[in-house]
Order: sequence, then C-alpha cells, then structure tokens
Amino acid sequence: MGWKTLDDMDLNGKRVLVRVDINVPIVDGVVTDSTRIRRLMPTIRDIIAAGGRPILLAHFGRPGGERRKNLSLNQLVPTLERAFGTRVLFADDCVGPAAEEAAESLQPGEVLLLENTRFHATETKNDPTLAAGMARLGQVYCNDAFSAAHRAHSSTEAIARLLPSCAGRLMQAELEALEKALGKPERPVTAVVGGAKVSTKLELLGNLIEKVDYLVIGGGMANTFLAAKGMPVGKSLAERIMKDTAVEIMAKAEAAGCTIVLPTDVVVAEKFESHAAHQVLPADRCPDEGMILDAGPESITTIKAIFEKSRTVIWNGPLGAFELEPFDAATNAAALKAAALTRAGKLVSVAGGGDTVAALNASGAAGDFTYISTAGGAFLEWMEGKTLPGVAALMQDG
Ligand code: 3PG
Ligand code: MG
Repeated sequence: MGWKTLDDMDLNGKRVLVRVDINVPIVDGVVTDSTRIRRLMPTIRDIIAAGGRPILLAHFGRPGGERRKNLSLNQLVPTLERAFGTRVLFADDCVGPAAEEAAESLQPGEVLLLENTRFHATETKNDPTLAAGMARLGQVYCNDAFSAAHRAHSSTEAIARLLPSCAGRLMQAELEALEKALGKPERPVTAVVGGAKVSTKLELLGNLIEKVDYLVIGGGMANTFLAAKGMPVGKSLAERIMKDTAVEIMAKAEAAGCTIVLPTDVVVAEKFESHAAHQVLPADRCPDEGMILDAGPESITTIKAIFEKSRTVIWNGPLGAFELEPFDAATNAAALKAAALTRAGKLVSVAGGGDTVAALNASGAAGDFTYISTAGGAFLEWMEGKTLPGVAALMQDG
C-alpha cells in the first residue's frame, strides 16, 4: 500500500514516537467514551512486545498554542494505564529538556505520554523545527492517528519526514477498511449519506456518485433533494438555495450509472421534539406547517432491499432526526438490516463520523458492522476522495 507497518520496523531497544488520537470526550474530568484509547491497545502491545518503548504524541482539544490546564493530557494518564495495563509516565512538554529526560529514562514495558502538542502554536502550522524537537526523542515514528490524519501538523506530517516511519495497527485497520469499502469494494456498493446540509457534503456527493452503485440520501439533505424535484417540504430543514446544485448532482449521478435513492414516504411532525405528534405521508405531500423528521416505512423497505442486493455499504450521517425518538426509526431499521447482513457474511459494512457512530451505537447495530471508524473529519475527507496529509507523509518516510 506504499506505507510500512510495525512489522517492517526494527523496534528492539528503540524509543518509538507514536502519534495517537486520544481526543476523547470528557465531562467533569471523566472520560465518557474511551473507544479511541481502547483501539490503541494493539499498537502499544506490539511495540512493547517487539522490545520498543512507546512515547505518545497527541493533541487534545484546540488550545490554540496556549497552555490550558483543562486541556492538559495529564488527566488521561489513569485511563491510559487501565486500557494498556502498563505504567504510563507523563512529561509536561512534548519537546525540550523535560521531555528528553523522561524519554531517556523510560524503561522497557513502560509508556511515556507527552503533553498536548497544541500547547505549541507552531504545531498546527506543521513547523519543521517543532517536529525536529519531537524527533529527537525517539528513533522510529509510528502514526496511529488516522482520525487526525487530515491535519498537516508537526506531529502528523513534518515529523514523518525526519524519522523512519510506519503506520500503527489502528491506522492500518482504518486504511484497510476504507480501501475495502470504497477503494476496491465488492459490488454493488451502496453509500448512505445523511445529515443536515447538502452544502457541507457537496464534495462527498460528487465523489460518491462516481464510485458507488446506489446513493441513499437521508436527513435534512434528502429534503433539499425533494425540494429540488419540486416537492413541497413545508418547514423542513432544507437548503433551498442548493436547488440547482441538487439537480446537477442528480443528472451527474444518472450519467455515471449511480442510482440516487430518496425517500418516497416521510414522517412529518409540526414540532422538532421527541414524541411530537406525527404522521406518515407520501414524500410529495408535506403540508405547509409540516416538518419532515424521518423517512417512512416504505422508504425503509426500499433501503433494506438495496442492502440485500449490495455487497458493500459505506455509511456517513443519520437518515432522520435520530436524536429524537421516534424519528430514529429509519436510521435504526436500516442499521440493524446492515448489521444482520454483515453477520450473515453477505455484506461488508463500514461507517464513520461522530454523529453516525453515535446513531449506530444507539441502534445497537454498531457491534455487527465490519468496521466502525474512530474518525470524524478524516473519515469524511477520505470519502471525499482527498489525500490525507498524515497518510501521504508515511509514503515518503525519512
Ligand atoms: C477529532 O477529534 O476529530 C480529531 O482528533 C481532530 O481534531 P481537530 O478537529 O481539532 O483537528
Ligand atoms: Mg474534528
């Protein structure tokens, strides 16, 4: 694939700088979702088993170059120790004497965590001097932060040019899953794209219609398409100024042999609230006061039938207002269908994006998906067909 893995590197006795993404949600000092930390375990385990000493580089939040106590990575040490089952030491800078001393005294079997790279304003500028300061701490660079690979920063990009570099196990798994889902998928391949706005997903739709056989559109985005087809959408979330763009996308999809699947029936309420009074109507019958909050049962049946015909499903964005019951019905039903087909060995299913993963977790389907990405923005940019700087940098290691 053009990049090396841990298996290609000589790690014995080496200090290995590992770029990780431990940008996890914290409420009142408590980590509320440690998925990203748990998914790093194979990398840490394999480096230690090969005689290497892992030194973790990571950002946390967006401190904008200031040392902010609430964004110190120190608070994650206990969670990391629990997840890795090792001692985790901490250095309160990611470069300089304190970091160098801690790196040198690191013992086999221990892990060193360095302070938030974004406490240096130059990190997000991909500054080579900062990268050189980091590179002094180890002999090998391993990038395991796929979910931060859309950023060209000192710790994700510049540093990869300075040391022998490889992908970690999580990075490897992410890239392999995406390659299977969109790079060289088994056909037919279906993309499910939902969420609020067409305007934020234009590049995504443009790339997908060239690559997939079916494009299922849901959420607020679907309303924009219905409106573009001349259907009334009442007070629904829709971007009416995107009408021409939506028409263009539909024409291009047709030319490319991609079938766009829009709801044929919709769940309409008068209020954007859980359990708001609602009715199921044909997609072209939304009243002036109505708000489309989900796809209807006929549409769900259609989506399920498309999944049955597909060998691959790639999913980004919920189909309806999934945060409000019962307007999570289409998302749940479609997700459970994809999960069942995957369990039966008939489908490869890959999903990513913050909202998407929350929705699939809520439906109980996530566990049966072939792969759930830990990435939000990076997953989207990959689906848009963009080159991720953190991945590209691994192809030309120093
Ligand atoms: C994320 O949480 O999506 C990544 O860690 C990237 O964070 P960022 O959007 O602040 O660069
Ligand atoms: Mg982000």
